[in-house]
Amino acid sequence: MEVFRNGSLKKFNTFNVDEKAKVLVEIDRVSDLFTFLTKENQKDKMLVLGGGSNILFTKSYEGIIISLKNKGIKLIDEDENNILVEISSGESWNDFVVWAVENNFGGVENLSLIPGNVGAAPIQNIGAYGVELKDVFYSCKGIMLDTLNEFEFTKSDCEFNYRSSIFKSTLKNKTIITSVKLNLTKSKHNFNVDYKELKENLLDTELTIKNISDQVIQIRKSKLPDPKIFGNCGSFFKNPIINISRHESLINKFPDIPFFKIDNNNYKISAAWLIDQSDFKNKKVKNVGVYSNQPLVIINHGNAKGKDILDFAKEIKETVIGNFDIELEEEVLIL
Ligand code: EPU
Repeated sequence: MEVFRNGSLKKFNTFNVDEKAKVLVEIDRVSDLFTFLTKENQKDKMLVLGGGSNILFTKSYEGIIISLKNKGIKLIDEDENNILVEISSGESWNDFVVWAVENNFGGVENLSLIPGNVGAAPIQNIGAYGVELKDVFYSCKGIMLDTLNEFEFTKSDCEFNYRSSIFKSTLKNKTIITSVKLNLTKSKHNFNVDYKELKENLLDTELTIKNISDQVIQIRKSKLPDPKIFGNCGSFFKNPIINISRHESLINKFPDIPFFKIDNNNYKISAAWLIDQSDFKNKKVKNVGVYSNQPLVIINHGNAKGKDILDFAKEIKETVIGNFDIELEEEVLIL
């Protein structure tokens, strides 16, 4: 366990924003959490950081930031076709996916190259290319911050939804997730290649876990910027969900708008398209802009302040409301 006072958060967020935290603590064993979470420390506000890949710091954090570095992948159970694994929350999500792909375990190959840590994955039910964490999720363990009681939540306890879970609603900032159990397949894999671009790229290729993962990596690399080059947090906004009557009037006015049917009453609209059509692609304000290949991603061109990124995001929101009467909701946590 290492404690830093007034520590810089620059290396702890993928927007590469240089804000400070009153206290920053790096913890590599769950037992150290109990040592650290004394009554005195619990009086402060607290934030658990995964990879810092979905967070925008707009000012100093006047509390304690816990960076979890607990590692390990454990085999819990297996039968002929399936395997249950428990992954410590401080593992990098992508390192875990690489491990699964190398061992030919199926279920997370579509989620290749997503930044962040395993412990953060259930919070927003990470998803990409037609698969969400909930599809392989079995349970997660954690600690309640107020009582320090340990819990294990099943899939239904977590109330997963599109980029959301109980950890973003009722239990927001009230828990620390310490490990996640996932169900992977050993054989009879059910590949998901419904996502248009993935399907097209795999037309002449044998469907294997490795080939799907390789294609996902290729698509992601072509669309999403490397945070080491341009600070970013992936999609800044969620794709808005609108009802059927709003959808009908929208496609009457804008026949090209890309959408995905969710159920008989609801449609998901492409936020990238709304931003693209609002002419943000070549805009740059105070070293902040959108990524040319995917305007849903806001990028730091270098040394932008968190506040500059927030102001730019507000400008996007206001313009999209003006043009389409749709309010974009942030996917990124803003502090
Ligand atoms: N589009 C444009 N202009 C552009 C780029 C895209 O109009 O410059 C339109 C296209 O019509 C395209 C559509 O936007 O078909 C959707 O783009 P994309 O396929 O990249 O997917 P997305 O809906 O924008 C979501 C996730 C991503 C995830 C991809 C792939 C959200 C908020 N974002 O993006 O997640 O990787 O699908 O599944 O759901 C993340 O959460 O950080 C993230 C990157």
